[in-house]
Amino acid sequence: MNILVTGGAGYIGSHTIIELYKAGHTAVVVDNLSNSNPESLRRVARITGSEVPFFKVDIRDREGLDRVMGQFKFDACIHFAGLKAVGESVAKPLEYYENNIAGTLVLVQALRDHGCRNIIFSSSATVYGNPEIIPITEQCPKGVCTNPYGWTKSMLEQVLTDMQKADPEWNVVLLRYFNPIGAHESGTIGENPNGIPNNLMPYVTQVAVGKRAELGVFGNDYDTPDGTGVRDYIHVVDLARGHVKALQAIERKCGLGLYNLGTGHGYSVLDVVRAFEKVNGVKVPYSIKPRRPGDIATCYSDPSKAERELDWKAEFGIEEMCRDSWNWQKNNPDGYPEN
Ligand code: NAD
Ligand code: UD1
Repeated sequence: MNILVTGGAGYIGSHTIIELYKAGHTAVVVDNLSNSNPESLRRVARITGSEVPFFKVDIRDREGLDRVMGQFKFDACIHFAGLKAVGESVAKPLEYYENNIAGTLVLVQALRDHGCRNIIFSSSATVYGNPEIIPITEQCPKGVCTNPYGWTKSMLEQVLTDMQKADPEWNVVLLRYFNPIGAHESGTIGENPNGIPNNLMPYVTQVAVGKRAELGVFGNDYDTPDGTGVRDYIHVVDLARGHVKALQAIERKCGLGLYNLGTGHGYSVLDVVRAFEKVNGVKVPYSIKPRRPGDIATCYSDPSKAERELDWKAEFGIEEMCRDSWNWQKNNPDGYPEN
């Protein structure tokens, strides 16, 4: 299949393109580079041996999308493009709703008008809010999000669901990611956050490489085995492969699909720190800080629906995730070079 990958220069998109080519698909990327560097795509090309056509287009730009969709015929779109910084979304809600929601509306209308009614959407476990059941199945009701970023995911799931209901020609797969970490085994592509990382693993790797003095552990008084927050970390390559499996569901004309992509294992912050130190033989100094507002104690998936229906299962464990995150960070201490 020929796949339009929005946000393909970013962290998950770049890893997914590699898995697409490995599975015999081809890709075209549109990305406005607001949170990425085109160097990622040059490195992807080195890994796959194929140049990936890239267009610096914003998904809110209908004419730009029309030009790309006029030049290529797409069998499906994998839609990663979006802003994702939780704290920033609280400070700039309108920018987040405009970029993520308005952008997706322009994108799906353009896809429809160009005859492509297949889309995979990057959603998030954040739509469960404070989950009613652990491990979280897809039956678990969506919850109250604690920030505008989360609401954009929750609302876009609704938009895409309604769109598919109104026009069953659409195949829509909503993938709820748990916590992606890790990097491609080559260590040449990985997560490249701007400024101070918000998420745990990039903070850990920046402490390990000496860019930051110590990790702040946000709370050790949660109702969890060691008091620190528990999450379902998933290797980004496993996550990428989930998209290839979702494309197969689209080929089978799945209609509407909704899947958790996680490992089903919960690890605490201190479990991650210990695993990272052990696998990589480096120290990660930390100190306990107050809880971070909006955080929940425990969040991990029941990923069995994806296994049953998509024949997808995460293969990498926490040690491989820690190894590959470190391999990327130590080989690229400053991320991708500026152009
Ligand atoms: P990322 O920021 O690395 O990638 C997103 C890409 O989208 C970037 O390259 C950015 O430049 C591009 N983009 C943003 N707005 C755009 C626009 N209007 N037009 C064109 N391109 C635009 O993020 P990621 O971690 O690769 O996440 C990919 C998707 O998965 C996002 O939608 C994100 O919300 C979602 N997601 C991520 C996580 C995570 O922890 N990384 C968890 C759950 C869901
Ligand atoms: C965060 C977002 C969520 C998003 C997800 C993936 C919040 C409230 N939620 O989830 O919307 O979908 O990222 O991008 O930001 N931690 C520390 N020290 C740190 C960083 C994190 O102790 O410096 C802890 C957190 O308290 C948490 C765990 O590590 O218990 C994981 O945090 P993080 O990587 O930010 O992911 P989430 O909070 O699960």
